[in-house]
Amino acid sequence: MTKHRLLFVCLGNICRSPMAEGAFRRAAAQQGVLDRFEIDSAGLGDWHVGQAPDARAQDAAGRRGIDISGQSARQVTREDFARFDLLLAMDGSNYEDLARLAPKRERHKIRRFLDFAPHASTKDVPDPFFGEAEGFDHALDLIEEASRGLLAALLSEEEASAKRG
Ligand code: 4NP
Repeated sequence: MTKHRLLFVCLGNICRSPMAEGAFRRAAAQQGVLDRFEIDSAGLGDWHVGQAPDARAQDAAGRRGIDISGQSARQVTREDFARFDLLLAMDGSNYEDLARLAPKRERHKIRRFLDFAPHASTKDVPDPFFGEAEGFDHALDLIEEASRGLLAALLSEEEASAKRG
């Protein structure tokens, strides 16, 4: 079975997409399917390349038992569009930036992450970087819901294609 290759994308790759990478990993591990995924995250900007996630993101995730301390920020590259099956944008601006960067034939791989959280009241994970610590918790609520939704969608797709043979 080929792996699902997922890239979570935000602006700086030190707050939202590292938390999304960690939350999705944890959700997949809890269901015993982590080995079916290749998971990474990246940022559209290069300001924080090489840095660990923001301390506030590490704390908020850590309080939920999600360890993101080992991650290191990197910038999205054009090669990512070939390498990954899905690029999950944290907000509308990230989506637009990705669409501009993407080779045309790979543009269909870009999705808004919160499309997988249909009950959320927003389509954007708000950028918590310039705000208070509470913003990280709110972002994580949305991220955890979308992680569960995305995982369920991919697993049910797998099941459907296994049935088709
Ligand atoms: P992120 O948050 O996109 O969730 O990682 C940000 C981090 C840094 C900056 C902006 C957003 N910045 O402008 O440096």
